[in-house]
Amino acid sequence: MPSSPERVAAIILAAGKGTRMKSALPKVMHKIAGRSMIGHVLANLAPLQPQRVVAVIAPDMDPVRQEVAPLPVAIQAEQLGTAHAVRCAREAMGAQAGTVLILFGDTPFVATATLRKLVERRAAKDEPAVVVLGMRPADAGAYGRLVLDRQGDLERIVEFKEASATERAITLCNSGVMAVDGAILWTLLDLIRNDNAKGEYYLTDIVALARADGRNCAVVEAPEAELLGVNSRAELAIAEALYQGQRRAEAMEGGATLLDPGSVFFAADTKLGRDVVVGPNVVFGAGVTVADEVEIRAFCHIEGASIEKGAVIGPFARLRPGARIGAGAHIGNFVEVKNSNVGEGAKANHLSYLGDADIGARSNIGAGTITCNYDGVLKARTEIGAEAFIGSNASLVAPVSIGAGAIVGAGSVITRDVEADAIAVARGEQVSRAGRAKEFRARRQKQKQQKPEIR
Ligand code: UD1
Ligand code: CA
Repeated sequence: MPSSPERVAAIILAAGKGTRMKSALPKVMHKIAGRSMIGHVLANLAPLQPQRVVAVIAPDMDPVRQEVAPLPVAIQAEQLGTAHAVRCAREAMGAQAGTVLILFGDTPFVATATLRKLVERRAAKDEPAVVVLGMRPADAGAYGRLVLDRQGDLERIVEFKEASATERAITLCNSGVMAVDGAILWTLLDLIRNDNAKGEYYLTDIVALARADGRNCAVVEAPEAELLGVNSRAELAIAEALYQGQRRAEAMEGGATLLDPGSVFFAADTKLGRDVVVGPNVVFGAGVTVADEVEIRAFCHIEGASIEKGAVIGPFARLRPGARIGAGAHIGNFVEVKNSNVGEGAKANHLSYLGDADIGARSNIGAGTITCNYDGVLKARTEIGAEAFIGSNASLVAPVSIGAGAIVGAGSVITRDVEADAIAVARGEQVSRAGRAKEFRARRQKQKQQKPEIR
């Protein structure tokens, strides 16, 4: 008899070749909003706190192994079908008495709430051995069809290739995802044969086998959009668009203004505070946190960065991993910040590269300032104290430190530390010669007349 179906484990099938992607990368490693498809599956599964999760992969899928680590993987040497794939996970799963969720690595959007519904349905009075996640897609295409009995319970699943005309007319389709009683999963799997149109071991046969064993089976339905499977680059683009649409809506619901939502791209883990304003054409890569009241103007590219309250970024700014922008700081157009702390209220408004730097509060970084952080072999840090002023077009050759309140003259190449409150100027002395321009031009004019080919 089934026991505590609320205990959950999961098997994620990901051994399929994904030939239609035409890619060197395993299909489930392709990204949606900067997160791999299998990463999305794991993220949606995590709140259920599964006791064990095993991904089934093909032998040449080390990137997937790394992606799911420290979770264990099971190797399916040959792709003999979905039931065979699940069987490959047996050893890695160990004994599972509760509910085993079977998920597909290329079906990234099955929501946590839907997974919960499957688990809850398993716990209902009729104790269904298998709960299948069904859908009614606009185009049922080649999906497997869910055949119900007179009571409306799930009787069997018929694969499209084997389906009769009447069965093909059924609109209720198999998403592939199911929740199975762990106590009988392996026994039923052993009974599945491959004498069918594709010569594969169909996991879908598990329903009829459970019924033959006297157990009930059930269906939980979810919207088609949640069950979208990705098999090609075109479908990947559709999945991306769908996901971005949801993220934009969530951002606005959470209290952010998006001036042109359709042109803002989020990563799966982007965090926005309240009263954040995001201009058009802004791209968030992975690992970005934005505090309240930050303004991100048009055309910024931001990844791996944190932005504190009230900062103003862009237009046309680039924040790279490790950029930490303090409260009220300004990062202006064509400024790139990498692995640097920009202090509270500091300003770098134009045309700069700030890499591996600590920039003091309320300092002013002039247009064209470059931290020369790399000598071709090693990287070094630049320290700039609070309220320092760096003149335009200065090169700060790291490792170097500019003290608090110091001023660096425009155009300087700073190679030695500058102490607090000092003025440092490191550029060629200016030489002016009165009247010499006029004299020079006259001489050149004369030369031109003598040798007209000189222009
Ligand atoms: C499967 C279902 C079908 C359902 C459809 C929904 C079966 C027999 N059919 O069909 O009813 O409508 O999904 O998309 O289950 N995989 C392995 N090893 C294998 C075979 C598959 O790991 O040997 C993995 C794939 O990587 C993929 C998933 O299982 O993630 C589904 O396999 P796929 O071949 O796409 O199944 P479908 O034919 O689409
Ligand atoms: Ca498929």
